[in-house]
Amino acid sequence: GQSKGAVTFNVFEMWDSDEPVPRVELLKKVKGCDGILCVLTEKIDAQLLEAAGPNLKVVSTMSVGFDHLSLDELKKRGIRVGYTPDVLTDCVAELTVALLLATSRRLIEATHEAKTGGWGTWRTLWLCGHELANSTVGILGLGRIGVAIAERLKPFKVKKFIYTDVAPRPELANMIEAEYVSFDELAKQSDFLAVCCALTPETHGICNWNLFSKMKKNAIFINTSRGGVVNQEDLYEALSTGLIAGAGLDVTTPEPLPTHHPLFTLKNCVILPHIASASYTTRNAMSALAANNLLAGLRGEPMPKELKL
Ligand code: DGY
Repeated sequence: GQSKGAVTFNVFEMWDSDEPVPRVELLKKVKGCDGILCVLTEKIDAQLLEAAGPNLKVVSTMSVGFDHLSLDELKKRGIRVGYTPDVLTDCVAELTVALLLATSRRLIEATHEAKTGGWGTWRTLWLCGHELANSTVGILGLGRIGVAIAERLKPFKVKKFIYTDVAPRPELANMIEAEYVSFDELAKQSDFLAVCCALTPETHGICNWNLFSKMKKNAIFINTSRGGVVNQEDLYEALSTGLIAGAGLDVTTPEPLPTHHPLFTLKNCVILPHIASASYTTRNAMSALAANNLLAGLRGEPMPKELKL
């Protein structure tokens, strides 16, 4: 008596907590599952797929990032993967702009000073930062989010957008009149550098001393992609020695970043706890999309957003 397209669950189990499911428990619970809907705290690797067994047909992650999924292992087993691009683009771009401005105009330092008695008489160079007008903004990894960031920054009178990627992406670049440059040129020319690439073996640690040492002294580095693209020791060195002016990070390694981490001691480093997609609207859209991906996968139908493996 099943209506067309309906999915009947024999067993449906939800981890009803904001804390990640303990790995041991997850490994037990996935046994025999046909589908899994996960978030980015769950590593979907060979061990987990083995534990799930041969029934598993679909993994749906409530995230646009998929570095927590072992794609090779999924592909090998013919398991389909859903993810949540597009629905979070506006929200992430908005937060990236907020983080950029908070960093470049030193907002966190400023509110701290105002609250704690550091606010004396008006002083000419006190809490001066760097402005977007007439600046060059660089985008490392031009995709949907990079374009959305540039669209939002343009009204701030940015002079030029430049980007680098594995290859030019003219369709996206034309939307924001961005010029394709080499990685080195991106480092050299950017007054603001926004990292918008996916974390892959190729991008792991790509923001390291080699990048920072070529950047301008006034440059602001912003990362809302994944912590793994940054070598944090090198970033600490660059920030603490004044090699670059500031950094705004929404993502770190590890997460949460321990409160005693050296980066927290720096005034020119603004650290947010991975909140770029955290609006009610977007998180609702992400969860609905993740659920619909899962259901389509279970029915053997095309998913609304499937990651082609
Ligand atoms: C993602 O979707 O990958 C973000 O990091 C969380 O929204």
